[in-house]
Amino acid sequence: MRERVEIFEVGPRDGLQNEKREIPVAEKIALVDCLSRAGFSRIECASFVSPKWVPQMAGSAEVLKGIRRAPGVRYAALVPNMRGYEDALAAGADEIAVFASASEGFSKANINATIEESVERFKPIIAAARHIDLPVRGYISCVTDCPYDGPTPPGKVAELADILFGLGCYEISLGDTIGQGTPETISRMLLAVRDVVPVTRLAGHYHDTAGRALANIDASLSLGVRVFDAAVGGLGGCPYAPGAAGNVATEAVAAHLERLGYETGLDMAVLQEAAAMARAMRGL
Ligand code: HMG
Ligand code: MG
Repeated sequence: MRERVEIFEVGPRDGLQNEKREIPVAEKIALVDCLSRAGFSRIECASFVSPKWVPQMAGSAEVLKGIRRAPGVRYAALVPNMRGYEDALAAGADEIAVFASASEGFSKANINATIEESVERFKPIIAAARHIDLPVRGYISCVTDCPYDGPTPPGKVAELADILFGLGCYEISLGDTIGQGTPETISRMLLAVRDVVPVTRLAGHYHDTAGRALANIDASLSLGVRVFDAAVGGLGGCPYAPGAAGNVATEAVAAHLERLGYETGLDMAVLQEAAAMARAMRGL
């Protein structure tokens, strides 16, 4: 039996949020529907943030309402505040994600709050979601480097991971938002976080700006991480993180994991189809 590693598909959210062209909702729905045939358990396809801050995600409710839901797939949405939570719930999100930053500079730029304020904002959201058994994932950005504050101390990441896990996030996704992490800095960060959150509850979310995402995945695998976020076609970036290029491409991670002998449960032919679709959406 090969060991299982899960890829959490974030392309329809992290992949598309930075696109300048206004992508029609129908195209987004077609991409999610294609991804639904690929064998993922979780697909992030919506973000209930302010359309003033991220215009591309404005059609998120229509996307969630328009997709053909495949059995066994959870369709996830990002929420920054209580309003986003209520909108995500009304649109039928199967799980939500709150997103914080381990660095103050990015926290302010991305959600206009200090780290502490953001945690206070998330508390009632996580409590409300837990009350109705809606799974909440917790993102932490800038886990090794911040575009505003420079290198992030591993202890800061561990402290925030401990808080979010303690509040009830079922998994903590560790974001190398600007893709500047190295196997060494990622490993140091993971060793600190692993001390406070079980490694089975951690995910790696690595952008591929410097072409090191696969090496960072290898370092994470050797420390026990078995969930990785990726975006089909290698799309993505964050509008509030200058220099943040695409997420590591799902099809590249899947092929890499298969070569290493892991089982991903993904259909490579469908992934290639979705990757072509995603690239076409960007006009590539
Ligand atoms: P603010 O300006 O401080 O808040 O933004 P506000 O309460 O003054 O709201 C501003 C306007 O947005 C108001 O409208 C609100 O009504 C509206 P106005 O009165 O001016 O007409 N608004 C909303 N509209 C729709 N849905 C909502 C909502 N909330 C307020 N939920 C806020 C604070 C958090 C809203 C803003 O900063 C925001 O939306 N930020 C989101 C930024 C974002 O989405 N970034 C990308 C995702 S994070 C990421 O990519 C990293 C990740 O991939 C991991 C990694 O790679 O590291 C997850
Ligand atoms: Mg990201």
